[in-house]
Amino acid sequence: MRYAAGVTPTRPLILDCDPGHDDAVALALALARPELRVLAVTTVAGNAGLDRTTRNALRVLTLLGRTDVPVAAGADRPIVREPWAPVGFHGESGLDGADLPEPAVPALSVTALELATTTLRAAAEPVTIVATGPLTNVALLLRAAPGLAGRIAEISLMGGSLSQGNTTASAEFNIWADPEAAEIVFESGIPIRMAGLDVTHQALMLPPDIARLDGLGTRAGRVFADLMRFFAVHHRERYGWDGPPIHDAVAVAWLADPDLVRSERLRVDVETAGIHTRGRTVADREGLSGRPANADVGLDIDRERLIDLVVDAVGSFR
Ligand code: RIB
Ligand code: CA
Repeated sequence: MRYAAGVTPTRPLILDCDPGHDDAVALALALARPELRVLAVTTVAGNAGLDRTTRNALRVLTLLGRTDVPVAAGADRPIVREPWAPVGFHGESGLDGADLPEPAVPALSVTALELATTTLRAAAEPVTIVATGPLTNVALLLRAAPGLAGRIAEISLMGGSLSQGNTTASAEFNIWADPEAAEIVFESGIPIRMAGLDVTHQALMLPPDIARLDGLGTRAGRVFADLMRFFAVHHRERYGWDGPPIHDAVAVAWLADPDLVRSERLRVDVETAGIHTRGRTVADREGLSGRPANADVGLDIDRERLIDLVVDAVGSFR
């Protein structure tokens, strides 16, 4: 996409998410950045059941004064696999720990698939899909409307790992949850940015960063600080970290600031047949498979720059 000199390019986005504490940060960032324009939000089961992830997306949009953004619910289970028991560390609601408002508006009565296809058809230019949950909705879109693949500029996803997993030893949650969906996405030929654990486990929101959110003196600042404190508990107990990884925010921030993440272009395949390796993202660093590279895989991040982007974004709301 080319823009006239001095014009901030506003990249149109569809954000598919499963809020989830880090999804909430990704949403605030996507809404706040001048380089990005959120056309629609779709929700998927992941950190919590679909009804809760949808409610949580609406609660965050209500908090941020952006109930103009259309929201539609998508898949409540993986394409093939059995649904999983929701993870506990996002709390009973899937977004516990803060004084979030009830949704001021409902989700649309259409499905995520309908909203995404309508949005892609109506967009004046190809749309970037940001996926911060299991890839079920994105895969179903690609299968149901293959003719629209050309309307998708790229897919920036939080998911995968070239090293240790977080749901099994092999796999990160978003890919593990629906490996067949992930395989469809990685085989689609659409440009992919992969913000996997290799980079998102560097993206910790530490106590001084949370204090900056509190220091904004706004309701949004206080709510996001409380959300991060809640999200920190699990990560301190499990990893001994001083703060939570804002995984999903990386998939958004990387779009707003392409220099934020150091990446390598690699061939990535998703394991769907393994028992111990279900959902592993296998990077073919030496090109042994002969298959073309299909993803820019994040390896390192400027954490301080990320935190500045997040604090500035939250600071742009009341
Ligand atoms: O593994 C981390 C991912 O799983 C993040 O997207 C988090 O929100 C959960 O969905
Ligand atoms: Ca998520």
